[in-house]
Amino acid sequence: MESQPLITAVPDTILDGSRFVRACLRRPVDRTPVWFLRQAGRYMQEYRDIRKHHTLVEICKQPDIAAEVTITAAEKLGVDAAIIFADLLLPLEPMGLPFEFMAGEGPVVHHPVRTAEAVRALRTDRADELGYVARAIQKVAAHFRDHLGIIGFCGAPFTLASYMIEGGGSRNYIHTKQMMYRDPLTWRLLLDKLITVLEQYCRLQVLAGADVIQIFDSWVGALSLTDYREYAFDASKRLVRSVQAMGVPVIYFGVETAGLLTEMAATGADVIGLDWRQPLDEGWKAVGHGHAVQGNLDPITLFAPLEVLERRVHEILRAANGRPGHIFNLGHGIVPTTPVENVQAVVKMVREFQLNIEETSIIF
Ligand code: CP3
Repeated sequence: MESQPLITAVPDTILDGSRFVRACLRRPVDRTPVWFLRQAGRYMQEYRDIRKHHTLVEICKQPDIAAEVTITAAEKLGVDAAIIFADLLLPLEPMGLPFEFMAGEGPVVHHPVRTAEAVRALRTDRADELGYVARAIQKVAAHFRDHLGIIGFCGAPFTLASYMIEGGGSRNYIHTKQMMYRDPLTWRLLLDKLITVLEQYCRLQVLAGADVIQIFDSWVGALSLTDYREYAFDASKRLVRSVQAMGVPVIYFGVETAGLLTEMAATGADVIGLDWRQPLDEGWKAVGHGHAVQGNLDPITLFAPLEVLERRVHEILRAANGRPGHIFNLGHGIVPTTPVENVQAVVKMVREFQLNIEETSIIF
């Protein structure tokens, strides 16, 4: 597997390469590509039906089912990219940290890692056990061929470390920050070990057919800019660069990151994910126009009347101003009670949006 060549060249006419991958690389597209964070999930009846018979982890570990869930969601919505159905925490298991999803509580890691000894005991030699994710990607890639972009993903070192240390979700990240401040060497060792596993995991996904890798640093907004620089930036940058060296663009995403965007872009990620708290054009300016951006509708706007929803969607598209390198998405994931028809309506709005030429202020 290791020696398989990667196809890195994207042919450069507007019809070649998927619209989504082209936008990641800031190449011109016929229209703005669109997909949604958590597009396969509990808001969709088809997913709920499968969940009646399987746990979340069972779905992830059975490539036929994971591929079916991925494909059904992408086709039902008519989006331009399919994100592989998996979970951020899967790499914890081969590292020696079992976890469970408790109903209503989210993930629970049974033995949180809080000491140097516990970090030293983490394994980095079993990433191939995540091969089930690669097999699901192969199935999705065989189904969609070049029609849709296929997104593989992993957690960023900081966000995954926070789950390992806190033992689940957290409000204040006290244990995580304690390790950073009190035992920086152990913190670095933990991030190094995570990078070793995540690199192998991303390579499996790329070789299986992922066109793009999204790195979720969902909880990095808990850090001040100084702490981001001191404790998270280097690890993210190393992971971004090594995934890019595999021949695919990288999307680097976080929430409540308005104060971190310039630094996040300095990792060199091709695309930066924006949440909804800042207008898209301001976020893009902070990121720099040398990067593409993804976002940034508030997921709860999907509960608004269609006229309000349309105004918000158009506002974002107008803020992007026809500049190459915008991927329409939410600022964070779709929540469970979201009406599916409103998600479909957003796809239609993005597809039909035409920027009035006189409105465009960018000279190509
Ligand atoms: O369609 C997709 O987006 C692909 C599937 C996907 C899942 N998790 C499936 C899932 C993706 C991309 C993830 C990533 C993930 N997992 C993240 C990063 C994304 C983000 O939201 O910032 C995080 C933080 C996790 C960890 C996680 N998994 C949590 C906190 C929860 C509980 C959330 C809740 O609302 O209960 C999960 C469970 C989970 N992962 C669900 C799904 C569809 C819902 C639970 C279920 O089906 O039982």
